Amino acid sequence: MKCIYILMTITMAAWFLSATPAVALDLSREPIQPISPPHSIDPQKAALGKSLFFDRRLSVDHSISCAHCHELESKGGADGLKRSFGVDGREGLVNSPTVFNAALNFSQFWDGRAATLEQQAKGPITSHLEMANNWPQILQQLSSDQSMMQAFNNAYTDGITAANITNAIATFERTLITPDSRFDHYLKGDESAITTEEKKGYALFKTYGCVACHQGRNVGGNLYQTPGVMNDYFKDFPSTGKADLGRFNVTGDKADRHRFKVPSLRMAVLTAPYFHDGSQATLSETIRTMAKYQLGRKIPTADINAIIRFLYTLPGRWQGKALEPQYQHELDAATLSEAAKVDPL
Ligand code: HEC
Ligand code: HEC
Repeated sequence: MKCIYILMTITMAAWFLSATPAVALDLSREPIQPISPPHSIDPQKAALGKSLFFDRRLSVDHSISCAHCHELESKGGADGLKRSFGVDGREGLVNSPTVFNAALNFSQFWDGRAATLEQQAKGPITSHLEMANNWPQILQQLSSDQSMMQAFNNAYTDGITAANITNAIATFERTLITPDSRFDHYLKGDESAITTEEKKGYALFKTYGCVACHQGRNVGGNLYQTPGVMNDYFKDFPSTGKADLGRFNVTGDKADRHRFKVPSLRMAVLTAPYFHDGSQATLSETIRTMAKYQLGRKIPTADINAIIRFLYTLPGRWQGKALEPQYQHELDAATLSEAAKVDPL
């Protein structure tokens, strides 16, 4: 009798579990939020900004555009280099971050020295190591281009000005938002949007404490932190210059030495190498470094691979196209062969 009772309870429980529909995650309790599509963007200004983003006349010798270091189609909005190269092959001081979803960051640049995308856009145009141009020359050249003149007059009451150039570029950048990632679908309740292994990766990303810093819509971009909370990163990766002082260069506050904006991980699978100094070649190396210096621990390879798989679910769609690469396209052969050892594809 007792046996039948137990059996019935088990059957009932199994039925109840299988009949329960997939419950949407309680978003207010998740550390990561889905990205909303861009809205209320002036299409004229955005189109103008797009043409400026690809316009080499913004650089002093007309050799490079913004896209030179922020390649949208194939490099996830970055350039795939340790450090970027400006006009005359001048090597920059830090690694190029992605422009995708930059609009969601609470400030711009690794050290947060620009509060807005407009302010940010002024930087590369006049920076000696990047486009090395000056405003009088840019205004004169763009003004002598009839169609450019026309486009500015249509979009802005005061035509071509430096402020309108940076505003148009920033408006375009506000369209570089990547909603609809598989992970966002999962967050919104579609259990089948990501695999069991990817779910495991997300669980690990939470339990290891990565979310203490990489969180919010952009899985980063809303805090400043040093790359060495638990261990001295700069002891092992000696500083190569002033750029390594990070936020200190902006505030002059000692507590800000070596502090950087926590980068967004939305595009991480597309934007190797990593860190402000480009010192980390691969995702597995980066995550190992993160674990050592931020968490003071070692993460087993199987867990690293699961986290990498989770990171693959994060890039969304842009212009109707999924930006997520095939896992096999991971730029990093070491990670792949490691992954193959633990988890053959
Ligand atoms: C020579 C390469 C190069 C060029 C050209 C260039 N950038 Fe960048 N960009 C970088 C680098 C490197 C950084 C990081 C600099 C820093 O943090 O000090 C950066 C940072 C940014 C950021 C901040 C992203 C973030 O998350 O903080 C945005 C936005 C951006 N660039 C947009 C542009 C635009 C718009 C242009 C054209 C007007 C442009 N870039 C031209 C290399 C370049
Ligand atoms: C205490 C804050 C903190 C924690 C915890 C943390 N990170 Fe980071 N993460 C950072 C900072 C700061 C950087 C940038 C370091 C730099 O540029 O020097 C970074 C960079 C990265 C990057 C490189 C991104 C890029 O575009 O360069 C990846 C990938 C990353 N973290 C993954 C992780 C993972 C996975 C975990 C958990 C195992 C983790 N992080 C834990 C603060 C943190």
